[in-house]
Amino acid sequence: MKVLSIVGARPQFVKLGPIAHALTSAGHEHVIVHTGQHYDAKMSDVFFEDLGIPAPDVHLGVGSGSHGVQTGAMLTQLDAVIEEHDPDWVLVYGDTNSTIAGALSAVKLHYPLAHLEAGLRSFNRRMPEEHNRVLTDHAADLCLAPTDVARRHLESEGLGERTIVTGDVMTDVCLATAERVRDTPPTLPDGVEPGSYVLSTIHRAENTDDPQRLGAIISGLAALPYPVVLTAHPRLLARAADHGIDLTQGSLHTIEPFDYPAMVSAVQHARAVVTDSGGLQKEAFLLRTPCTTVRTETEWTETIDLGWNVLALDLDQLTALVDRPTPDPTDEAPYGDGHAADATVAALAERVRTRP
Ligand code: UD1
Repeated sequence: MKVLSIVGARPQFVKLGPIAHALTSAGHEHVIVHTGQHYDAKMSDVFFEDLGIPAPDVHLGVGSGSHGVQTGAMLTQLDAVIEEHDPDWVLVYGDTNSTIAGALSAVKLHYPLAHLEAGLRSFNRRMPEEHNRVLTDHAADLCLAPTDVARRHLESEGLGERTIVTGDVMTDVCLATAERVRDTPPTLPDGVEPGSYVLSTIHRAENTDDPQRLGAIISGLAALPYPVVLTAHPRLLARAADHGIDLTQGSLHTIEPFDYPAMVSAVQHARAVVTDSGGLQKEAFLLRTPCTTVRTETEWTETIDLGWNVLALDLDQLTALVDRPTPDPTDEAPYGDGHAADATVAALAERVRTRP
């Protein structure tokens, strides 16, 4: 079987890691296409190095732009790439502009399309990711759902017959990395001690693009009574500079993005996480660090139901939310047992068919 993976943004490299290993160990051919949506070394290259992912076979180098410009630049090049490699499956990941571009190109060329992390829904139609994931699910021949909640969403949209639940590949890589870094102290800014700090990331358009919203989030973080290690996505740095918001005020220790092992280690040793990242909400849950999510909803509802995540609907309550009592311990594993990549590869191999 020959699988062509299309990735472009940081969380997709994390998901690609276990899939690349599972494909290679099962003896399948794997072509990796990097769209270039994320291009800074700390947003891209370090993930390939740390997760042992082979260098991309094709790099489209599209860079930044508005949604239409960025997605269009990918589409312009993808048709030729897919046809040249002629895969049995085109595999797209998550919910970014690289996902929707890969999906559109594959289905228009009649290549079988599989969507990894299918069925997630925020039901917030202001999010670019919500459009990307809904459209990709409906285009896909195979929806690889990470959870039962995701499967139910797909069923309710009439996509049940092309859906299977594989578990979540981010669990595979998170648990394996946690084991690897267990005895490594976290890399922290000077003066910040393990166990004492709040780890934070903020990058989503709905939190960064409106100056008042971003100002309120940063003030809330700066007022926390603990050191706040804020690992800054380039979008946060750019918008904070545009809006004149100081990322060094109060409790903030703003640093460059972590590589993946450093992130896992930083979550393990944090007293709490405050984030708007989907992946980090789950990693916090898997590593049992209480999380507060700076959004009005989350796709990862299991983290809320099990008590390990809360939504910060009122930013004035941020300190109270971060200081809430430690959640009850749980053995629940809604995101699988760490073998989702093998299940994904097996599902693809079982369903290889001739192109229509
Ligand atoms: C994208 C995804 C988002 C995902 C996030 C993970 C979409 C619609 N959004 O958002 O779902 O959670 O990736 O990080 O696809 N930039 C750089 N260097 C880089 C990458 C980005 O400087 O390597 C800056 C640029 O100013 C760019 C901005 O960040 O304009 C936004 O980047 P973009 O890839 O468009 O979206 P993200 O906010 O990263």
